[in-house]
Amino acid sequence: MTITIDEMAAFCKRKGFVYPNSEIYGGMAGFFDYGPLGVEVKNNLKAEWWKANVTQRDDVVGIDGSIIAHPKVWIASGHVGCFADMMLTCEKCKEKFRADHFIEDSLKIAADGMKAAEINRLVKDNALKCPKCSGQFQETQDFNLMFRTFVGPKTDDKSVAYLRPETAQLMFTNFRLVVDNARLKLPFGIAQIGRAFRNEISPRNFLFRCREFEQMEIEYFVHPDKTYDCPYVESVYGHRILVYSAEMQAKHAEAQEMSMKEALDKGIIKTSWHAYWLASAHRWFIGLGAKKENFRIRQHVATEKSHYALDTWDLEYNFPFGWKELQGIANRTDYDLKAHMEHSGQDLSIFDEETKQKVVPHVVCEPSLGVDRSFLVFMFDAYSTRKDEKGNEVVVLKIHPKLASHKAGVFPLVNKLEGKAKEVYESLRSDIPCFFDRSGSIGRRYARADEIGIPFCITIDFDTEKDGTVTIRDRDTAEQRRVKIDDLTNVLQGLVSCRIGFADL
Ligand code: GLY
Repeated sequence: MTITIDEMAAFCKRKGFVYPNSEIYGGMAGFFDYGPLGVEVKNNLKAEWWKANVTQRDDVVGIDGSIIAHPKVWIASGHVGCFADMMLTCEKCKEKFRADHFIEDSLKIAADGMKAAEINRLVKDNALKCPKCSGQFQETQDFNLMFRTFVGPKTDDKSVAYLRPETAQLMFTNFRLVVDNARLKLPFGIAQIGRAFRNEISPRNFLFRCREFEQMEIEYFVHPDKTYDCPYVESVYGHRILVYSAEMQAKHAEAQEMSMKEALDKGIIKTSWHAYWLASAHRWFIGLGAKKENFRIRQHVATEKSHYALDTWDLEYNFPFGWKELQGIANRTDYDLKAHMEHSGQDLSIFDEETKQKVVPHVVCEPSLGVDRSFLVFMFDAYSTRKDEKGNEVVVLKIHPKLASHKAGVFPLVNKLEGKAKEVYESLRSDIPCFFDRSGSIGRRYARADEIGIPFCITIDFDTEKDGTVTIRDRDTAEQRRVKIDDLTNVLQGLVSCRIGFADL
């Protein structure tokens, strides 16, 4: 079942997943608030990412850095100088448009990474005008995407600071301390989940391109002579995915499905680290219920790479508005550590015990994943409909139980069973996030739970009093089984963690 991004936004608002920000004042473009269900799903998603990428790994540790840092951080990183999109301004009404998006929408061609001269030529040759007032455009200008603010009571140039446009830099500025405290040995990663801010010229597509968003990032450091030696790569050799290299794009060829081994053997993916992290990210999504076939990996063409990147591959998802980036995996080399060494005058090199060398490690991979984009992926791949008994189409949100806002709804079949149902609910809630619902027919309550993605419903009926069992219903099949109340917590924990399947009951 495919719905548009606007339909998804409407669904998220109606059911309490995500709201447009400040709606009572007319809204604020590019900002969104997560509602009671959305915040739970988002927290679960972040917890699953942290577990897979930090808790369950020996080679990655986490930090939680602040949003505002010394402004020199952003000068050293290159963001003050280069972190810009091109903007077209109407001479007449002064309306502003993000230039590459405007070209893409007007001429239906790819414009990511297009240079200013090419944009100006296309605007002129195609006589493109302002869609608001038909005015002429000025020459394309760079627009820096960082939000500026002032720290302290003064508003002079010396008090200017920036809201971070990526979490990454905190991993570099804290590099020495983290390495020493966590006694890290190459290769290793430093991970962080946190908010980032970009003053997008034209935010669009709901949560996809916002001005405030969250990232889940890892800076993965390796010895500079070992940028090709990933010790984990064999674990992903057999993993298959649709691959769209820069060369395929240049030749206007189709993306090809292949294994990571094939992509490495053919030299399509250059480093085993890239193959490993791309496959790991894809597996993480699939493991949480996303549809394998909705993903591909695409290499950045030369013109679209960030100022710090040697090679970048994106894990992309087939959104209703086209294939778009979910996770960028850039090879940042030693660009950032070297830049901070130069600007701070501090030595950020480390001693590698294996080679007995003092080295500035390379970030051969920087898996950088958007929380909000991931949330959208799980919502799109979970969204489905079925016909109810009256023939009406109803939504069933088949979201993975680990991500679902609540793992179970607890219902008395009729109101006079409410006391017993409350007892069951109270016995579950310290271990299982669940809710209680007594209003409406049982069918109506199941439908409400299905629509917001509750994987299991527990119904207390007349047999419960007699034999101490309840009905457990599976959202995705509507099948029901009877389970002893005494076993319920254990059964639900097993089902949510996928230790057992519903068919095993
Ligand atoms: N740290 C990479 C990015 O934010 O895109």
